[in-house]
Amino acid sequence: MPSATTSAPLRQGPHLIPSDPRTAWLDAYRRVRSETERRAAPLAAEDQVIQSMPDASPTKWHRAHTTWFFEQFLLTPNVAGYRPFDDRFAFLFNSYYVQAGPRHERFKRGLVTRPTTTEVAAYRAHVDAAMEDFIGGLDDEKLRALAPVIEIGLNHEQQHQELILTDILHAFGCNPTSPAYDDAWEMPKPAGARAETVSIPSGIRRIGHDDDGFSFDNESPAHDVLLQPVRIDRQLVTNAQWLAFMDDGGYRTPPLWLSEGWATVEADSWEAPGYWRNVDGAWHQMSLGGLRPVDPAAPVCHVSYYEADAFARWAGRHLPTEAEWEVAARARLIDDAYGIVWQWTRSAYSPYPGYRAVEGALGEYNGKFMINQMVLRGSSLATPEGHTRVTYRNFFHPPSRWQFTGLRLSDYP
Ligand SMILES: [Fe+2]
Repeated sequence: MPSATTSAPLRQGPHLIPSDPRTAWLDAYRRVRSETERRAAPLAAEDQVIQSMPDASPTKWHRAHTTWFFEQFLLTPNVAGYRPFDDRFAFLFNSYYVQAGPRHERFKRGLVTRPTTTEVAAYRAHVDAAMEDFIGGLDDEKLRALAPVIEIGLNHEQQHQELILTDILHAFGCNPTSPAYDDAWEMPKPAGARAETVSIPSGIRRIGHDDDGFSFDNESPAHDVLLQPVRIDRQLVTNAQWLAFMDDGGYRTPPLWLSEGWATVEADSWEAPGYWRNVDGAWHQMSLGGLRPVDPAAPVCHVSYYEADAFARWAGRHLPTEAEWEVAARARLIDDAYGIVWQWTRSAYSPYPGYRAVEGALGEYNGKFMINQMVLRGSSLATPEGHTRVTYRNFFHPPSRWQFTGLRLSDYP
C-alpha cells in the first residue's frame, strides 16, 4: 500500500486538498474497494453464491466479509452513533475472529443464499459511504492512531481479492462445462530466460520486514539467519519438467513422497497437478480462461507442498528455505519471483524470533495459524497490484493446491 502521503487523490472535495493524508487514504480506500468489485463483476449471482469446498468461500461472502472488517474494526468502535447495516451480518461475515463474537460455520457459507448479492452490494455501499465520512473527518491525531487499521483493512481486502479468483476457479473446475472466468485470460509469461543456478555463499544474513512500508505482523521482527552455501534456480519449474516427472512414474513411486503426501496421492487418486485433465491423450488444465492445453513452457501451477517436495526429491534437489528464497530475491538473483505462482518453501510457518501477536481480535490475524502449514514466497498472477513484498509470508496446508502455487528448486553444493 502507498504511504499516507504519496498517493495521488482521486477526488478533491471542498475540505480536502491533494497533499492531505486523508485524501491519500480515501484514494487508496476507493482503489482497493473498486478492485474487489471489478473482480466480481464478470460473475453472475449464481456464481457468487456457490461454495465448492470448505476451504473456498463464495464471492458474495468475500465481498461482504471484507466490508464487515471495516465495520467491525473501524466504524463501530470509532464512529459515535454508527449503526451497522444489518445486525445479523456480523454473525454471517465474521470469519475466524473469536474475540469479535460468534460466527457462522465456515463450511456452510455456500448455504447462505440470503442476503442476496444485491443486498451485499447495498451493504458495501453503506459501509463505503460511512468510511468516506469517517476518513475524511479524522483529525490528525486520530488519523495517526487509526491509519494502521485502515491499512490492514485494505491489505486484508486485497488478500480476499486473490481468493475471489482462486475460489471461483475451483467452483468452475467442478463444472463439467469448464466455464471461463475471462475468455481472454492468459497465463503470464515467465520473464526469465536464463536456465541457471545461482550460488549464495554461507554467511549471516538479515531477513524480515525492515522498512517504513506496510507489512503484516508475521514478517517481523527482522532478524539474522545463518545460511549454508546454497544454489538456487533462477527459473520456476515448468510444465515440461513436470511432465517428465509424471512420465517417470512420479505419482506412482512411494519412495519419492513424504508419508502424508503418499497417503494423499492414494486417497485423492492424484496423477497430475490440480485441475489437469487428460482429454483424448493430451493434458489440459482448467484455468481462469477455461480448459486449455497444458503449455510445456509455462511454470507449473496448482501443485501442493507434497507434490513440490516429491518433485524436488525426484530431481535430486530441494525446495529452498524461506530465508534462502528471501536472500536470493533481495539480491535479485532469481527470475519470476513475483506475479506468476507462489513458490513453496521447505520452511514451516512459525513465528520469527521475538514475534508477538498484537492484543485484541486483530491479533488473531496471523499468529494463531502458525502451526501445520508451510510458507510460500513471492506472489501470483492473482495477487493484486501493490500487494507484493520481498518479506511477504504466505502459508497454506501441505495438501492445498487450489491456489496459484508452484516452485523453484535449490540444492547444497
Ligand atoms: Fe478475512
